[in-house]
Amino acid sequence: MTVEIRSAIDFYERHPISCEIILAKLKAARGHLDRLTPDELFAHDQDHYGGLAANDALAERAGIGEGTRVADFCAGLCGPSRYFAHRFGADVTGIELTPARVRGAEELTRRVGLQHKVRVVAGNVMQVPLATRSVDVVVSQEALLHVPDKRRSLAEAYRILKPGGRIVFTDWVAHRPLSDADRALMWQGMAVTDLYDLPTYAELVGRAGFVVSPVEDLTREWSEILKARLAMYQKLREDTQAAGTAAGYDAFYESYVRFVDLVNEAVLGGGRFAGQKPA
Ligand SMILES: C[S@@+](CC[C@H](N)C(=O)[O-])C[C@H]1O[C@@H](n2cnc3c(N)ncnc32)[C@H](O)[C@@H]1O
Repeated sequence: MTVEIRSAIDFYERHPISCEIILAKLKAARGHLDRLTPDELFAHDQDHYGGLAANDALAERAGIGEGTRVADFCAGLCGPSRYFAHRFGADVTGIELTPARVRGAEELTRRVGLQHKVRVVAGNVMQVPLATRSVDVVVSQEALLHVPDKRRSLAEAYRILKPGGRIVFTDWVAHRPLSDADRALMWQGMAVTDLYDLPTYAELVGRAGFVVSPVEDLTREWSEILKARLAMYQKLREDTQAAGTAAGYDAFYESYVRFVDLVNEAVLGGGRFAGQKPA
């Protein structure tokens, strides 16, 4: 296991959004956890900026509908996967690296009765455990930033897509090179690997074989969202500290505060990328 993969797992094993925390919040709000619905989870299980609207944007660009076979790269707790299944009737397989998140995704999916439409497979998106030409769509939200070899993961997306299939994903981008200190902070606090600017990233998608759609710059949109998200982490931080702070959490917080600044300054930002495998 490489140091990048180990760091991503370490980071997500102690991430403040977890299955246990989601269920504890829901239990506190409704008194019990019987007959949970997917809609009740959606306020809590989306680990990306823009929540359900960001899922709708991916679904629209990818043409996700009833019966679409979707692979969700870096699925986390499978919040987006469950949404694509519940809202559009898609058949979704999440690929997720971190064991705690695989277990959490399974539990949340089972609790809302979507296990016939959503499954999570433990794995690495640089070596996807799915058959060649087996899916219609590959999606991913804000996760490839952790993947050290994005070329390999794009090549894997291309391999598992059927001819004519689409890839649509969001990811962090670096509009300008980071200083050494900021790069170190992002790596130590949030397991961030190499980042690209928008044109370079789009070129990588094209080099993997896809016909690339115009890239969407999400930086300004994220900047607003991040301010609210920082406030949420500040609150979670207080809660976590009250419950006994997990090791490494301060490094996360410090890097997150800097990340929000860097997005506000448009040094870092986000992009939505879309491509189609030729028919
Ligand atoms: C920011 S979360 C996004 C989760 C999900 N896409 C969502 O929007 O709710 C990033 C996820 O990527 C996973 N991850 C990181 N590197 C990975 C890899 N190489 N292969 C598969 N999953 C990975 C992490 O474990 C984490 O759950």
